[in-house]
Amino acid sequence: MFTALTELPTDPILGLMAAYRADTRPGKIDLSVGVYMNEDGHTPIFDAVKKAEAYRLQSETTKAYIGMEGTPGFNTLMQQEAFGADHSVLAAGRVASALTPGGCGALHLAAQLIKAANADATVWVSDPTWANHVPLIGGVGLKLETYPYFDRATHGVNFDAMMSVLNGLGPSDVVLLHACCHNPTGADLPPEQWDQIAESASIKGWIPFLDSAYQGLGTSLDADAYGIRRMADAVDEMLLAMSCSKNFGLYRERVGMVAAVTPADKQAATLSHIKTIARGIYSMPPAHGGAIVEHILGTPELRTNWENELKDICSSIQTSRALLSRALTASGAPGSFDYLTENKGMFSFLDLSKEQIEKLRTDHAVYIVGSGRINLAGAHKNNVDRIAEAVKAVS
Ligand SMILES: Cc1ncc(COP(=O)(O)O)c(C=O)c1O
Repeated sequence: MFTALTELPTDPILGLMAAYRADTRPGKIDLSVGVYMNEDGHTPIFDAVKKAEAYRLQSETTKAYIGMEGTPGFNTLMQQEAFGADHSVLAAGRVASALTPGGCGALHLAAQLIKAANADATVWVSDPTWANHVPLIGGVGLKLETYPYFDRATHGVNFDAMMSVLNGLGPSDVVLLHACCHNPTGADLPPEQWDQIAESASIKGWIPFLDSAYQGLGTSLDADAYGIRRMADAVDEMLLAMSCSKNFGLYRERVGMVAAVTPADKQAATLSHIKTIARGIYSMPPAHGGAIVEHILGTPELRTNWENELKDICSSIQTSRALLSRALTASGAPGSFDYLTENKGMFSFLDLSKEQIEKLRTDHAVYIVGSGRINLAGAHKNNVDRIAEAVKAVS
């Protein structure tokens, strides 16, 4: 059987990570992989997470399975985190949700749910979008299309072009929107544009599907959830995939949540499908990461601790953005770099060709993804001048 298989190419980002690890040059700089790093290039464990783990180590009494949808405490607290504790969809019992293995698990489960509800649905993703959306969602056999999003000239959103496509869609269309910190562009939608998108969904009947992998890393926990909350105000049905990888630093524990906003009389039916789909993929979600999140969100002191740590990370990314923007401008590299401070979250694009990106790596030991995406969390006061000089040198 396996003789039929040919070797597939390595994921380009994973290949780059391996090359970075093998690079022995001192002062090498990694702006490629999508994790938060401190000035030492380390991805630290949140103090709140350490405390929640210590609590769990002494309080856990069983390793028996948790339910297919995870624990009720996790789901309630995460729903409140996403929609806001006072949102009408929660009061009306219109949300069906489940703990999933990471945001990827949530995206894939949501895709299966769309397929179960309407196998002919088309899912629209932004141009560009996070590369893994394609296999996670298209991989279940749903039709994928793209809508215009990024404006390369301004590094912002080409909102008119985006709306002209969304306004032509209908009830068989599902539109995947990045809730905040758009990956890979960093170009986010301000509240007034979310309002217009919500109005389009409400009038045209297309279904919003929000991917929220960076809540709290763009502006604040509440501001980054504006789109989720506004869309839930406006429509009868929507989907949501949440990830706790970045904002709790729980990457390898694999914690996320899939949620569907439904008409009240369809919540139970939708939840039954979510559970059945989970049963057919991994049966029960892992418990450990979800229990940590539940304990942090449900313990006021730990929650404050976590919120403060998250604020520090958010402001350190904003500082990195300002430092790199200033250093690139001062270096005389061509172009304006103001957009770096306007974009949100960990990612932005540098306008470099494939050859220039390759030269950054070979001649200057600066690693960025082939598309030009950089992770700003890898830029710090100690290396921004080196990055800027390298960009200037290859430009
Ligand atoms: C846009 C986006 N969605 C979802 C995810 C899912 O992350 P995870 O499965 O690690 O929780 C990521 C991770 O990089 C992401 O960038």
